[in-house]
Amino acid sequence: MKNIVILISGGGSNMAAIVREAQRGNWRETLDARVAAVISNRADAGGLALAREQKIAAEVVDHKGFESREAFDAALADAVDRHQPALVVLAGFMRILTPAFVGRYAGRLLNIHPSLLPAFPGLHTHRRAIEAGCRVAGATVHLVTPELDHGPILAQAAVPVLPGDSEETLAARVLTQEHLLYPRAIAGLLRTV
Ligand code: GAR
Repeated sequence: MKNIVILISGGGSNMAAIVREAQRGNWRETLDARVAAVISNRADAGGLALAREQKIAAEVVDHKGFESREAFDAALADAVDRHQPALVVLAGFMRILTPAFVGRYAGRLLNIHPSLLPAFPGLHTHRRAIEAGCRVAGATVHLVTPELDHGPILAQAAVPVLPGDSEETLAARVLTQEHLLYPRAIAGLLRTV
């Protein structure tokens, strides 16, 4: 069985979409895969309750309890490794990871980023896309490498930027596509690991 560990920091709507698709598409039988655990760096992440409702192990490794990024990442890796993951999936995980952590999971660490990379790495992607006058925006699933939001692209989805869009309306349009894109990209990668 291929275990997937999902890392979150917030609401976890992408995590919930992955869990839903894993159940609906019966990933256990078709891909020999399951979501084994959800780990958050924040105890107040809404996604933890969603995971527990689905009887998925939901854990917290609070970054505030560590003196350095390296110490936090080492504790996070310990928590992740207990589930022996084939894939580690970042879904709204809002911490920069050290090269040591990224290297440990090279080729099996994924992220979804709310822009059409290589445009707009980093934060406030939707605001920046509107300010730049973009006519399309979107989301990117990519392998994680040490340089933030720069790994090889696995899948993308595009949406229009409409006249009068605010950061919020554009974010909502992109997020709807993220929920379709991420499970599809994960299923594709599961076939290769
Ligand atoms: C998503 O839009 C995701 O692309 C973004 O955070 C949101 C999380 O929502 N990720 C990043 O900005 C990573 N740098 P969710 O918690 O509801 O899945």
